[in-house]
Amino acid sequence: MSDISTKTQTLSDGNDMPLVGFGTYLIDTPDKMDKAITTAYESGYRLFDTAQLYQNEAILGESIRKLGVNRSKIFITDKITEMNQGYDLTIDSAEYSLQQLGTDYFDLLLVHWPISDKFFDTWRAFEELKKQGKAKSIGVSNFTQSHLQLLKTQASEMPVVNQIETHPYLTQSPMVAFDNKESILTQAWSPLGRGVVLNDPMIAKMAAHHERSVAQVILRWQVQRGVAVIPKSQTASRIKENIDLDFELSDDEMSMIDILNKNQRNGREPELVYEMGKQY
Ligand SMILES: NC(=O)c1ccc[n+]([C@@H]2O[C@H](COP(=O)([O-])OP(=O)(O)OC[C@H]3O[C@@H](n4cnc5c(N)ncnc54)[C@H](OP(=O)(O)O)[C@@H]3O)[C@@H](O)[C@H]2O)c1
Repeated sequence: MSDISTKTQTLSDGNDMPLVGFGTYLIDTPDKMDKAITTAYESGYRLFDTAQLYQNEAILGESIRKLGVNRSKIFITDKITEMNQGYDLTIDSAEYSLQQLGTDYFDLLLVHWPISDKFFDTWRAFEELKKQGKAKSIGVSNFTQSHLQLLKTQASEMPVVNQIETHPYLTQSPMVAFDNKESILTQAWSPLGRGVVLNDPMIAKMAAHHERSVAQVILRWQVQRGVAVIPKSQTASRIKENIDLDFELSDDEMSMIDILNKNQRNGREPELVYEMGKQY
């Protein structure tokens, strides 16, 4: 097991979060989940990322229980979906998600996407869930600089994590720098660009030089620039390699990946979701 696999980052609320976590989007049967979570846990992952939208909270909770480890050794991230936002719905749906997961707290609870008409009420509910101890840390996902600046006008406490789409074709350097300035840890979703970046010839050369895979070089670039990651895989060998990141990229190599940016999203545009009130 490499060093980075167990490395945690202290968030601005004082809680620690693993830098490398495991994404569970599209893992949708108990059998697939059991296999993925067992392999992930044995490979060193302790953070497991789900969302109400994925409809797999119950099977994830069950797979985690089957590991037979103390709850405190596991870090669970969940996200409140658009249709469950607003004060009361956020509180009630969070309670339902906890029941589904079979636990009494989230390590990290995120607003999945910002939406304009529920924006402040949802965050007020998040602050309440933190006060009640149901969410140890509260954060956001898919927030832009403007969304964070707006939130700051009314928030009693600010998010400690912003989970955004970022990979070598969507480096989001200004967003990452803004998060850093605000003491918010950036966590990359689709850190491998859902496979799109894996054929990049320049990263392939770099990977050959380090005798690593393209995925490993990309994930190493992410954590080396201070961005946490939650790669998803249902393939045992990939689950293992994605957390085996104990090598170093030179400053030149880091810059060479930085300039691959094409502002290319595979997912939704946050501002449009904000305006429309749902994923389109
Ligand atoms: N907050 C949000 O709005 C949001 C949105 C999307 C996703 N997420 C979270 O982020 C997690 C990761 O994002 P993602 O699942 O979209 O994309 P990703 O992790 O960038 O890519 C996953 C894809 O890459 C493949 N893969 C993984 N490791 C590989 C490797 N070492 N070599 C080659 N291929 C590899 C996987 O295939 P196999 O599974 O077949 O191995 C899968 O098809 C999700 O699972 C979810 O938890 C959050």
